[in-house]
Amino acid sequence: MAEQKTHKVTLIPGDGIGPEVTQAVVRILEATGVKFEWERFAAGAEAFEIFGEYIPAALYESIERNKVALKGPVTTPVGGGFKSINVTLRKKFDLFANFRPIKNLPGLETKWPGVDLIIVRENTEGEYVGLEHEVVPGVVESIKVITDKGSTRIAKFAFDYARKHGRKKIHSIHKANIMKMSDGLFLRCARRVAEGFPDVLYGEHIIDNTCMQLVMNPFQYDTLLLENLYGDIVSDLCAGLVGGLGLVPGANLGHDCAIFEAVHGSAPDIAGQDIANPTALLQSAVLMLHHLNEEAAANKVQKAVETVYAERKTLTRDVGGHAGTSQFADAVLAAMG
Ligand code: NAI
Repeated sequence: MAEQKTHKVTLIPGDGIGPEVTQAVVRILEATGVKFEWERFAAGAEAFEIFGEYIPAALYESIERNKVALKGPVTTPVGGGFKSINVTLRKKFDLFANFRPIKNLPGLETKWPGVDLIIVRENTEGEYVGLEHEVVPGVVESIKVITDKGSTRIAKFAFDYARKHGRKKIHSIHKANIMKMSDGLFLRCARRVAEGFPDVLYGEHIIDNTCMQLVMNPFQYDTLLLENLYGDIVSDLCAGLVGGLGLVPGANLGHDCAIFEAVHGSAPDIAGQDIANPTALLQSAVLMLHHLNEEAAANKVQKAVETVYAERKTLTRDVGGHAGTSQFADAVLAAMG
């Protein structure tokens, strides 16, 4: 029999609820039978205290080597302080596609049952390039960068994904009525790519209207293609459609590396209490298992998650239960058999 492969994965537990949800997820992953070797690193304020660097050089090297990372949320100071670790890592490894599937879990009552959306967010450009400066006191400029290359490759990613996975329709979400040049370029690139995919329907909606449409009738959409900032905001809105931020997974994908992380942040309001929902990071880990071609393990974990939700006995508070983070993980482990 061929020897089982060991996957070396960079693990960034993060801060806030990060270490709690990461611990729960690692326990579950280790019970799948897949062999992992974790290279664990602090990032952000915690790393700065230990190493004097927000992202230690050894963390960069680890991702460079392993090509795959599982990451908990990292707190970013508001209105000053150090640059977002998330944005920095996405830029450094050119993780241009942020992929976020939005799907109901069984047993959870939400306004809309049967939501099945894909968010494809451009992950390296837009307002998040972080080019801001004070022109004169009281006047600040923030530069939004949209490029033909960046827009074309994210559109191509969305259409390739749609074709491969039988998704029927892609909507570009924009504000090109106001941001005529930048969002205009994003749309022109998407239209050009769409021409090569006659089997996938293509539409365009303005971002503000889209938010209303999503809340009123999410079923009119299938795959949403968005610039960085719009994708960030609409992801949280869509998380709300299926039960909240505790559930929705994500993957930051580049041509070379991938970092898997939940949509949610470090949730300081509930950190350290063993009450956070680890489902979002767990479902991100399921995406990682697929990425590593560990299909059986991915399906096993996903099925166990769905069983625990369908039973409704061991759910965390954010989704109407009373269980803690580790109790939820115990239930998933039990459902895996
Ligand atoms: P947040 O996503 O951390 O929290 C928003 C709300 O959702 C809070 O009420 C929180 O308790 C709840 N929530 C989030 N995740 C949950 C979970 N797993 N289980 C149960 N409830 C959950 O957003 P917020 O408060 O705006 O940001 C906090 C920090 O996180 C900020 O510093 C922000 O920059 C950072 N952040 C980091 C991200 C990352 O590392 N990828 C992504 C988003 C935010």
